[in-house]
Amino acid sequence: MTKQADIKKKSLKPGNMLSPLPVVLVSCGGTPKWKPNLITIAWTGSVCSEPPMLTISVRPERYSHEIIKATREFVVNVPSLQQAGATDWCGMVSGRSVDKFTATGLTPAPALKLRCPIVLQCPLNIECRIRQSLLLGSHTMFVAEVIAVQVSATLVDAKGRLRLEKGGLIAFAHGQYFALGRCLGRFGFSVRKRTGKGKTR
Ligand SMILES: Cc1cc2nc3c(=O)[nH]c(=O)nc-3n(C[C@H](O)[C@H](O)[C@H](O)COP(=O)(O)O)c2cc1C
Repeated sequence: MTKQADIKKKSLKPGNMLSPLPVVLVSCGGTPKWKPNLITIAWTGSVCSEPPMLTISVRPERYSHEIIKATREFVVNVPSLQQAGATDWCGMVSGRSVDKFTATGLTPAPALKLRCPIVLQCPLNIECRIRQSLLLGSHTMFVAEVIAVQVSATLVDAKGRLRLEKGGLIAFAHGQYFALGRCLGRFGFSVRKRTGKGKTR
């Protein structure tokens, strides 16, 4: 074992350092009582395959928290580079005082299974219905089942394969937005046998 004295590391204050994170535009509302709203969320993650589930963590003081708690549904819209500015902006202003769809020019479009609209311009739209809400402390974690998914037709190739790498997706790390870089390989590349130079079976 390497000795503590030889480790070239610095200790940081315990905090939310997990990086990189996705950053998404969550749409909510769309009922007679709740007009559609958008909230930027970085604290989101996939948590179960069967049934497919994800979580978003939202502070109770957010206007979107009120809407999501009441309607029990939301859409996770995964933005591309083109929506990076709008994604940041929707995280700076509250839907209590502004209609974020109108202000950003983002288009609300029908979801397949929910009353809540999707964001048309975002390449990937994940429709979610809440299964559980857990007040963890500063944030409520909404645990939700994915009940429908829509993807831009341009990201599905002629063979029906999903080509998300062409979607211009973005990431968030320690307060900064990043474009994704080069692809390092398909999952499992480390154990696949090579059949020729640069080729895998
Ligand atoms: C990059 C980024 C990530 C954010 N992530 C979260 C988050 O995970 N949870 C949260 O409650 N607020 C998050 N926020 C803050 C909300 O998006 C922000 O307070 C927003 O204005 C709330 O809008 P609303 O009042 O219309 O719901 C984030 C903001 C930014 C810019």
